[in-house]
Amino acid sequence: MKKLRVAVVGAGIYGINHVNAYLWNENTDLVAVCDLDSEIRKSIEEKYRVKTYADVEEMLNNEDIDAVSIATPDAFHLEPSLTAIRHGKPILVEKPLATTIEDATKILEEAKKHNVRVAVDYHKRWDPAAINLKNELSNVGKPIRGYMSMDDIIDVPTEWFNWAHKSSPVHFLGTHCYDQIRWFMGCEVVEVYAVGNKDLLSSKGIDTYDSVQAILTFENGCHWTVENSWVFPKGFAKNNDGRTQIVCENGLLRADSQNRGVEIFDNKKCKTPNSYFILESNGRPMGFGIEPINDFVYCLLNEKPFVADAFDGLQAERIAEAVHRSLDTHRAVKLSEI
Ligand SMILES: NC(=O)c1ccc[n+]([C@@H]2O[C@H](COP(=O)([O-])OP(=O)(O)OC[C@H]3O[C@@H](n4cnc5c(N)ncnc54)[C@H](O)[C@@H]3O)[C@@H](O)[C@H]2O)c1
Repeated sequence: MKKLRVAVVGAGIYGINHVNAYLWNENTDLVAVCDLDSEIRKSIEEKYRVKTYADVEEMLNNEDIDAVSIATPDAFHLEPSLTAIRHGKPILVEKPLATTIEDATKILEEAKKHNVRVAVDYHKRWDPAAINLKNELSNVGKPIRGYMSMDDIIDVPTEWFNWAHKSSPVHFLGTHCYDQIRWFMGCEVVEVYAVGNKDLLSSKGIDTYDSVQAILTFENGCHWTVENSWVFPKGFAKNNDGRTQIVCENGLLRADSQNRGVEIFDNKKCKTPNSYFILESNGRPMGFGIEPINDFVYCLLNEKPFVADAFDGLQAERIAEAVHRSLDTHRAVKLSEI
């Protein structure tokens, strides 16, 4: 089978997972990596012997590339996406597709115009626990009520990256939940109402929400409460936490990302790593954080539809924007207004 010649744009904390996935995928050749940061470019060249660029356009003009991963910060997916699409390259964009409906729509429309396929890395759709719930939902009758939370420790917005003020717990974490719940329900959100707190992060000079709670009403009548925050304490046993509960006519489904079977104690604290997300075995990256990247390759080589595509990216962003509008106006917002 022909190998796919791939490139990665943005090789920071998460983009490096795309680099690793492509280096190990037997159906890909990682041709180049593009990052604005010269230190990152230097380390990629030294560690992986892969050619690097500081400019996406230059990379695509100079290299023979079949597909591109985009893992730039949340609010900066638009420009590299449009550049790759205009070069006719299918793209895998990190979640969220964008932080505005305007950007997400531009990506969708440009992709249609150039007949280019766009996948979005909503990796929770590959989490074995989520897949289990999705499969069980067809056996337990009509869903009545759902709850989903996803929270990060405060280090994520304050120490991991410097662009948290350009995003929010809604864009960074909420869109994961909105996408996953749309996938569970098999229908769309009609209305949202949200409340939130802005205090702790803004006191540290980061102008974004600490925590947001949203109630989503779906077309099938099911109401979901979605909670997302960026302020879990540093001492929490994992970098993030996530819980799901779905009450159905004939059943109750529950999952959490906290108790995945491993506990590690040292002299300071207990750690509970998620063994299913991303880990290395004999150097090879594996887990549901890596699978969407391998699946992107599989779907391109075998002409299969993507598990999550640009339309899914746009829908999650429409919900995110409705949640932010509800936070601003203190009223319920219909998706038809968005
Ligand atoms: N950090 C996580 O746990 C995580 C998990 C899942 C998904 N993501 C998503 O991955 C994306 C990247 O997040 P991150 O945590 O890796 O951020 P990061 O700040 O660590 O990395 C972003 C990288 O993109 C580079 N960059 C920015 N603009 C660029 C451009 N125009 N061209 C080339 N390079 C550019 C930056 O120099 C930086 O190295 C985000 O959309 C985020 O939501 C992150």
